[in-house]
Amino acid sequence: MSQAILEMKNISKVFETEELETHALKGISFSVNKGDYVSISGPSGCGKSTLLSIMGLLDVSTGGEYLIEGINVTDLTLDQAAEVRNAKIGFIFQSFNLIDELSVFDNVALPLRYHSDKPSNQVIKERVTACLEKVALSHRISHKPNQLSGGQQQRVAIARALVAEPAVLLVDEPTGNLDSKSGDLVMEVLEKLNESGTTICMVTHDPRYADMAKTKIQLLDGTILQAPKAKLAG
Ligand SMILES: Nc1ncnc2c1ncn2[C@@H]1O[C@H](COP(=O)(O)OP(=O)(O)OP(=O)(O)O)[C@@H](O)[C@H]1O
Ligand SMILES: [Mg+2]
Repeated sequence: MSQAILEMKNISKVFETEELETHALKGISFSVNKGDYVSISGPSGCGKSTLLSIMGLLDVSTGGEYLIEGINVTDLTLDQAAEVRNAKIGFIFQSFNLIDELSVFDNVALPLRYHSDKPSNQVIKERVTACLEKVALSHRISHKPNQLSGGQQQRVAIARALVAEPAVLLVDEPTGNLDSKSGDLVMEVLEKLNESGTTICMVTHDPRYADMAKTKIQLLDGTILQAPKAKLAG
């Protein structure tokens, strides 16, 4: 039986400013199961990033219920949300968000240095090395981010997202800043990670990349257009 890692039940989000109310999400319900690869696509402004922010506990919904591994995380305090986020979620953004002053090794090690488990330097070294191998960047371990190509920088960001062994990777437009060849390589890395068991939920504009996912969610004006359907074999 599939195990739900993330479960959204009738999630809504209203942004309010003095003169305007934006209903960014209107009753979103779906689950991400262990081992799943879910893509979320839809036109600009349809609510993709808002949805991913709520999934990653970077923002809160204004209605509905959200569970991570069966635990209700709808109304956590900021501190509780940060703790769950650090333990369960790996993020990959369009703009790699690496720290220029740090080497590849230290960028990837960062989540472990702040982890509540306080891993030893030896464990950190082993985990960082293993994650850099997964993204085929072992030979760039001492480089600084600005000495790498965009695609390589995004792969460092993937290694960093993986290093604390999160329950799910949340990915927002991972290829948005890349040429098509580097973008294809990044997508290949994500596909391989999923094949070896990593659960992924990815926002993308690109229909080719959305099609690589096992489950496709289409958003339009804050609602799910098409119920998620498992991709047929092949
Ligand atoms: N902080 C905010 N305050 C007010 N409105 C917001 C805020 N963030 C997003 N919105 C609005 O919510 C809607 C959904 O925005 P969101 O960023 O989720 O879209 P998106 O699907 O990610 O778009 P894109 O493909 O352009 O990245 C938009 O109408 C946007 O203007
Ligand atoms: Mg967006």
